[in-house]
Amino acid sequence: MDTLVRVKPLCHLSDIPESGATAVDAVLHDGADSVIVLRRDGQVHAYLNVCPHAGRRLDYAPGKFLLRNDTLTCAVHGATFQQASGLCIGGPCCGDSLREIPLCIEGDEVYLGEGA
Ligand code: FES
Repeated sequence: MDTLVRVKPLCHLSDIPESGATAVDAVLHDGADSVIVLRRDGQVHAYLNVCPHAGRRLDYAPGKFLLRNDTLTCAVHGATFQQASGLCIGGPCCGDSLREIPLCIEGDEVYLGEGA
């Protein structure tokens, strides 16, 4: 993550609760969309907030996600994803993945990485 060139500010690290997640509106290279930003065990991961099953947002309310241990569950039909990889490990799109968004972190600042 740290070797990527920072291009656009996304949020502050302090906006993301430890072992939690938030949703941030971002302008990506292919348009504006919601991005899930997860923080766990000192790692930060970001994914497009679009479920590969039916293209819906994964949160049950804006920025509120179903998190358990190291997984994230889509609130629509229950697909379960690994937080660290975005891989779906259970539910209707098992084997598919969330689209990872590259990040660059400097201090408390989280930036979209190159290619985001
Ligand atoms: S839209 Fe996410 S499981 Fe169906």
